[in-house]
Amino acid sequence: MIAVGLVCPTSYPIPVRKTSVYLPEPLKNRLAQLSSAVGTSEAELIRDAIDARLTRGTGTTTGERATPDRPVPGRLVGVGVGPGPAEAITIGAIDALRRADRVVAPCTGLDVVGRAETVVRQAAPDVAVERMVFVMQPDHEARAGALNNVCDRMVDYLEAGEEVAFITLGDPNVYSTVSSVFSGVRSRRPETTFETVAGVMAFQALAGAGGVVLTDEQQSMVLLPASAPEEVIAQELSDRSRTVIFYKGGGRIAAVADQLEAADRLDGAVLGELIGMPGERIAVVPDVRDRPASYLSSVISPAPTGAGPVPVGNIDMATAKAEVEEPNRAGTVTP
Ligand SMILES: C[S@@+](CC[C@H](N)C(=O)[O-])C[C@H]1O[C@@H](n2cnc3c(N)ncnc32)[C@H](O)[C@@H]1O
Repeated sequence: MIAVGLVCPTSYPIPVRKTSVYLPEPLKNRLAQLSSAVGTSEAELIRDAIDARLTRGTGTTTGERATPDRPVPGRLVGVGVGPGPAEAITIGAIDALRRADRVVAPCTGLDVVGRAETVVRQAAPDVAVERMVFVMQPDHEARAGALNNVCDRMVDYLEAGEEVAFITLGDPNVYSTVSSVFSGVRSRRPETTFETVAGVMAFQALAGAGGVVLTDEQQSMVLLPASAPEEVIAQELSDRSRTVIFYKGGGRIAAVADQLEAADRLDGAVLGELIGMPGERIAVVPDVRDRPASYLSSVISPAPTGAGPVPVGNIDMATAKAEVEEPNRAGTVTP
């Protein structure tokens, strides 16, 4: 006797993509898109994905990371992006953005796309970004009012069980609105879990773009707002083995240049304006000292001295370094 229910039909009433029969509709569509984009059959992609998961412990074969962890309800994550080119965003940041239930960006008006949002749009176009208005002008009351609104809304989302990612330019722990948002949310909702995802800082992007070595050997480095008291700046500049970096100096380039000149450090100082953005300008400070720059400007005065050989015990580091760097012409093994 033949059990009719077990007979495999030779034709189907509707077309069936046998390779993706178990997949939900959105995943099927993404599979079809990837298949036509990379010219590999859907079956091959599925085989690869299963193989990657079972054999190599990763979830993808396309160079992307496996699906990020699940969102944690009530967690607020400060995510650093940019500020250099969009490709400087970290994989950790992209994971955090994709994992979050909501991604929030600071802006100066609801119709203004901020720099951090622009980076996210370029690096992860699939991530939807919600803007929240901040007031950047010195008006203390207006600033505090805007910050309060932002924190209230954040708390609503966190209370609803969402994980919220708040994006910021550069690193969230360096001169960032993230710290004010965290403290406003903490005072309203102490049980919130806070996390930050490090980002590439503006001065690092400038050092890369301007070919500047920030520190070497025994040198040190300090980051200051250009509005710091003159005597503090003079003190830092007087240490010639210290690299001095100025943030927030766009409108005060002339004053910064004067201070550098007084410390005999004008030559070699580099300005980076709008790094990674349209209109980017990298210049030596003497060439631009009479031109005000935008708020998104940073200046690096590299340490004039202090790099080079460091004696360690009886070892002459200059010789040791040269030995490591010199090819071994005799072909013998050096320790
Ligand atoms: C509020 S702080 C943000 C710092 C940022 N969190 C970081 O890690 O670099 C703003 C200052 O960062 C610097 N900055 C940020 N983006 C920049 C860019 N694209 N080009 C040059 N400087 C930038 C400027 O000095 C600006 O005044």
